Amino acid sequence: MKHKNLIDLEYMSKEQLEQVIHLAGVIKEKPEAYRHACDGKVMATLFYEPSTRTQMSFQTAMLRLGGRTIGFDNPMNSSVAKGENLKDTIAMISGYADIIAMRHPEEGSAKAASLYSSIPVINCGDGGHYHPTQTLTDVVTLNYEKGRLDNLKIGLCGDLLNGRTVHSLIKTMSHFKNNSFVLISTKELSVPQYIIDILDRAGCEYKTADNLRDAISELDVLYMTRIQRERFTSDEEYQKQKGVFVLDAEKMKLAKEDMIVLHPLPRVDEIAIEVDDDPRACYFKQAEYGMYGRMALVVLLLRIEDSFSFDTPEPVLIPEKKCSNPKCITNDPQQFYLPHNFYKKDGKLCCDYCDSLIN
Ligand code: CP
Repeated sequence: MKHKNLIDLEYMSKEQLEQVIHLAGVIKEKPEAYRHACDGKVMATLFYEPSTRTQMSFQTAMLRLGGRTIGFDNPMNSSVAKGENLKDTIAMISGYADIIAMRHPEEGSAKAASLYSSIPVINCGDGGHYHPTQTLTDVVTLNYEKGRLDNLKIGLCGDLLNGRTVHSLIKTMSHFKNNSFVLISTKELSVPQYIIDILDRAGCEYKTADNLRDAISELDVLYMTRIQRERFTSDEEYQKQKGVFVLDAEKMKLAKEDMIVLHPLPRVDEIAIEVDDDPRACYFKQAEYGMYGRMALVVLLLRIEDSFSFDTPEPVLIPEKKCSNPKCITNDPQQFYLPHNFYKKDGKLCCDYCDSLIN
């Protein structure tokens, strides 16, 4: 099934990814050549959850390409506050805009939106599930700041359990040759097993670590993450994890001269402010690369020809089955109309919205 919805990077080919990276670099160097690339086009930014970078970089991307934007950053200022469901909002906005960039707290919401949209839907984060344009941001940054996407030793530190950007980055970088990973976290916030399975299948070297000071000296890239307070069920559990890993100037002294520090941002307390002045701190540059990556993505998705599209398996409808993930959008009573769609992977049944395994 061919379409232009970017729900996850899984169905973006390596060639398409390289196309985005290349075009992002071209646009960065020659922005004037793309000033009218989206003249007359409208982007709808629908943010049901807070955002600074993703929302504003998409809006800036569209404005810099000559297009315009509409949307909301607080659903309570839209008819969502009156009980409008996702289907109706999306079906209607499809008639107003040419492309949708959407963030929503429920897992699988981007896929659900794509069912009712006649224009491309870009997933800007669906709960703890996927955030593909953050990964695009990360790989564009790695490509231009390290000069390569292979032969990198990448340390990922912090909340490796809830960090959707961590999962997506590992998945994507495991496709490039000779990348290895150091997974630095507490036992409670370690990467889920499915990520370990991906690393094993890709034949990537990896190890776990519980001390940033010991791990930092061998890294080419250090990807720091925030402990995601909003994903914890109790504040007590969050307080136990908060502040365990802090990157400061003293630890930076142990790192390679050419190691770079990335962070999807926002930061809380996991990178001391003093690190911002270190030339190896790339996280603000990374946010700027994100805008160029998103400009490239929008240009490619809005091209008239269908060459930049994704091929995903046709789902199967099983009305009597339900997804067992309570965070899945199909378990939200307000979205009762969603078809119970599933797909098979390695002989196992998975939810077509949130990708959870079905028992
Ligand atoms: N990195 C990221 O997604 O930032 P925002 O939540 O500010 O969009």
